[in-house]
Amino acid sequence: MRRPGVNEAPAPTLPLKPVPMTPFSVTPEGVKASRAMLANYAIKRYAIQRNMAIPENPFVFGEIIDQANFVNRTTELNQLVRDLADGQKVFLLSPRRFGKSSLVALALLQLKKRHIHTVSLTVSSYSSYTQFLEKFAERVLRAAGPWERVKDWVTRFGRQVKPDVNYNLTTGEVSVSLGKGSGFDPNPIAPEVFALPGELARNAGFRMAICLDEFQQISEFNGGSVENAIRNQVQKQREVGYVFAGSQPSLMEEMLTAKRPFHKAGPQMFLDKIPANDWKDFISRHFRRRDRALDERGLQALLAAADLIPYDVQRIAHELWDYAELKDKRQLDASDVNFVIDSLVTTQSTYYELVWEQLSARQRASLQALADRGAGEIYSQGVREEFRLGPASSVQKALQSLDARDILDRYKGNYFFLDPLFPHWIRNKGA
Ligand SMILES: Nc1ncnc2c1ncn2[C@@H]1O[C@H](COP(=O)(O)OP(=O)(O)OP(=O)(O)O)[C@@H](O)[C@H]1O
Ligand SMILES: [Mg+2]
Repeated sequence: MRRPGVNEAPAPTLPLKPVPMTPFSVTPEGVKASRAMLANYAIKRYAIQRNMAIPENPFVFGEIIDQANFVNRTTELNQLVRDLADGQKVFLLSPRRFGKSSLVALALLQLKKRHIHTVSLTVSSYSSYTQFLEKFAERVLRAAGPWERVKDWVTRFGRQVKPDVNYNLTTGEVSVSLGKGSGFDPNPIAPEVFALPGELARNAGFRMAICLDEFQQISEFNGGSVENAIRNQVQKQREVGYVFAGSQPSLMEEMLTAKRPFHKAGPQMFLDKIPANDWKDFISRHFRRRDRALDERGLQALLAAADLIPYDVQRIAHELWDYAELKDKRQLDASDVNFVIDSLVTTQSTYYELVWEQLSARQRASLQALADRGAGEIYSQGVREEFRLGPASSVQKALQSLDARDILDRYKGNYFFLDPLFPHWIRNKGA
């Protein structure tokens, strides 16, 4: 094997992301993972053959975005940091994959730099209310600081709720167990658990910021009583800021209505799409660093196909980057973007086919009309006749049911496809 000499640059390395996958899974994640893996191998082979180093693909999707690659959102970020530092209870709402978790992660990072203790929990990760309460207590105790500082509080907290709190001297980790068995009722102890951040912050003299992500899932535990327990405790905690982030705006909005505990509990922040110009700068900058250029029409085609949904902008840009590396293309235009989109749609087609098969005739017709004509015209008589949709009330019902199935969602009052490549597949099918 040839080895680099002392003054030579080291052998090219290619940072490959590990891709957890089941090769023939038909879930969108499975299809995406298989494709990502194949593209990674192809690029690696190409690089090795030419003895060249390839920089890591800068377009990241499905992961929290780091500060260097965070596009726009300055106003929202500053606002969120300010509100949390002030101990506000903020409700952050947007459809899926608009960038809530990334925004919150960055806000918490900035707060940490200001010595504010931070905690982040994703409600949907826990299978029961008890487990959620245990993890909540655990994370709060860990964030509160060294064991020496929290141990007196653990004993006090322990006396009232009688949990099993363990401290591992080697790892320094705290673990909490509240009660075992399916018959265990966590409701009586929930107020004590939710009071913990306030107690610790007040007594140890620090501030805290807590994120509860996928907060709409809280109602899966036991509806109103969890909401009540949290609301009653957090409103007493001046030293602790909370952000409740939710991906199903309709469920979150319902949670904030007049009859529910969180009504007027704090400011609401709706996350918009990121403007096209910011994306254009970001994408062009990365391609330019690699001596490549994507022309204006190509940029427009990419952003239109992604429907400006952050996840999908990154996903298509990621594919385009790999494609440009493979072909070593310097000038990229709309035809390259379309090629990449078509191949993405093809790799997802088994999944789309499965989804399509499960839909009723009216749901399919409504999706065809939406894919072809857009949200603006879907209720018009012309479109309803052309696509045999029936009366406007039936169209509305079909769209609502597609919303409930997470195929559609609403943005600024209009229905849109949560996966912006699905309408491409629908249009190709009808062509
Ligand atoms: N400000 C941003 N700059 C660049 N990319 C972003 C930004 N925000 C989001 N993204 C892209 O969108 C993807 C999804 O973002 P994120 O997971 O934060 O969204 P989310 O709203 O929390 O989604 P979900 O509802 O599925 O939890 C990220 O992995 C990234 O590719
Ligand atoms: Mg999220």
